[in-house]
Amino acid sequence: MFEGKTILTGVKPTGTPHLGNYLGAIKPAIALGNKALEQGGKHYMFIADYHAINAEKNPEILREKTKEISCIYLASGLDPEKSFFFRQSDIPEIPEITTILYAYTPKGFMNKAHAYKAAVDKNREAGKPDDDGINMGLYTYPTLMAADIVAYDSDIVPVGKDQVQHVEIARDIAGAINAHYNKELLKLPTYYFDDNVAVVPGVDGRKMSKSYGNVIPLFEDDKSIKKAIFSIKTDSRPMEEPKNPDEILVYEIYKSIATPEQLKEMGDGLRQGKLGYGHIKNMLLDAVIAEIKEAREKYNYYMSHFDEVEEMLQKGAQKARPAAQATLKRLKDAVFGR
Ligand code: TRP
Repeated sequence: MFEGKTILTGVKPTGTPHLGNYLGAIKPAIALGNKALEQGGKHYMFIADYHAINAEKNPEILREKTKEISCIYLASGLDPEKSFFFRQSDIPEIPEITTILYAYTPKGFMNKAHAYKAAVDKNREAGKPDDDGINMGLYTYPTLMAADIVAYDSDIVPVGKDQVQHVEIARDIAGAINAHYNKELLKLPTYYFDDNVAVVPGVDGRKMSKSYGNVIPLFEDDKSIKKAIFSIKTDSRPMEEPKNPDEILVYEIYKSIATPEQLKEMGDGLRQGKLGYGHIKNMLLDAVIAEIKEAREKYNYYMSHFDEVEEMLQKGAQKARPAAQATLKRLKDAVFGR
């Protein structure tokens, strides 16, 4: 399905990714990109730092998060020689394209956009005025995202559920422009949402999320990972009591990382009362460490050699720019009748 297609993923440099992000978003995105590359397609992977400044105003934090995210992607198998890997803010055509897209963005789309609506809902819950603390960057978020998408002639945008609507808005804006000039100026993107990708529960059983404080860290040392895994909720039933594995949180988390054989071993052990909670936590710990070990070494290397990463990002921007330049030229020629 990816033959010759252009896949584009953007990631905001906010928060520190945890194991749930890694298994549920980072690894699948890289795998998809690599699949497209194998099938003669293209893969763009960029750090959406313009999107991040709507919420994060501290330059040190932005710098640190950008560093972290880029090292995580490189460590997790993104090949900057094959994929286009760069910062959004290093492509000056993006804000120019955004400005043109504004003229085709119905304000009503923005009122209904998920990022803005979520912020309004939060204000209402807190008893504050609807637009309290909301800046125009957040309000117009989907138009900037549409510019990201059309700039590189993206066919497919892999997204989480919350971003589906933003890709639909991008498609609508691109469609409106093409219709107005009666010309295929912009590629119409589609989103790709994979239902099979794991949603990893956190140590308390809710979705793993930093805001719940229930995460298993990603590239930290064994001790921190062990501490999180051993805090996973269990009950006081004795080992000998046969248990239904599907009711056991450790097993649920194991599902997202174990091979079918490993999973069967844990499931059988629980059903037969042969494995206790200590055992299964150690099995999970071993699987997590085996999964991340190599990537963690690479991550630590890149974090302490960020000059090398910076060079990759700069090269990536140089490689990505021509497509954005061509899109901008097509738009300006059409819009201004040049
Ligand atoms: N809005 C996306 C998010 O919060 C990040 C993003 C910005 C993006 N531009 C994009 C994703 C373009 C895909 C394509 O996750």
